[in-house]
Amino acid sequence: MTNTPSLCIPQKILILIEELTKTYDDRSTSVEALQGINLIVMENEFIAIIGSSGSGKTTLLNLIGGLDKPTSGKIWYDGEDISSLTEEERVLFRRKVGIIFQDINLHSVLTVEQNIELPMIYAENLKKLSRVRRVNELIEKVGLSKRKKHIPTQLSSGEKQRVGIARALANEPKLILADQPTGNLDSETGEKIIKLMRDLQREFSITIMVVTHNLDVAKKADKIFAIEDGKIIPVIFDSNGKKQPKKS
Ligand SMILES: Nc1ncnc2c1ncn2[C@@H]1O[C@H](COP(=O)(O)OP(=O)(O)OP(=O)(O)O)[C@@H](O)[C@H]1O
Ligand SMILES: [Mg+2]
Repeated sequence: MTNTPSLCIPQKILILIEELTKTYDDRSTSVEALQGINLIVMENEFIAIIGSSGSGKTTLLNLIGGLDKPTSGKIWYDGEDISSLTEEERVLFRRKVGIIFQDINLHSVLTVEQNIELPMIYAENLKKLSRVRRVNELIEKVGLSKRKKHIPTQLSSGEKQRVGIARALANEPKLILADQPTGNLDSETGEKIIKLMRDLQREFSITIMVVTHNLDVAKKADKIFAIEDGKIIPVIFDSNGKKQPKKS
């Protein structure tokens, strides 16, 4: 693998978000979770999103990943307006995006290799032999060659999250959305997981958006954004490592 400095790669916009809002309405309450988000994410960027609990981080990832529909505003992904997709079209769109969850959500009766193969079976675009090849490549990349036949209960938390990462990469997505991927891990394991994500992001030239409550994790990103009061703002750190939010 050659490590080309990212500055040499001409960058292209992968995600363009305009005046995005999401209001959750039910009979008794209404929550304005996102109130006009504007954001540009370039290809090959590693973005961190921070913000207090309930600020709308998961809501934003769900909208970008096609898991939910915005109330208003636009999301352009790789030139495609995904905010106005039908339910059926969103199901197909979701296959283009890899998702990593805090609680990992592995299938408890499936082995490491079967868990990683599953998204490829759903996508129906690879024959068995190619799937096996891809599974083996990914297992090696995440350092689980000796755990292929293990089921999730036979894995440590860090190993489970490595499976989660490999599974997210299965269908060669351009984008990975990770919602607190280190939230259930101790700090040392969490650091290794973030390093792995960073390395794979560079090697496969993918874009990663990671939601985290951990500023040390966020500081590994190319850019940090904070969601506050339903709006998103870029965050920078001063020379003392102190957070300096800036209005965009
Ligand atoms: N399905 C839903 N129905 C109604 N309200 C919801 C729903 N999902 C989220 N909310 C509300 O929207 C707001 C944003 O929720 P969200 O899950 O995006 O927060 P978050 O920033 O991810 O928080 P955390 O850090 O705790 O995961 C919260 O006030 C939450 O209660
Ligand atoms: Mg959340």
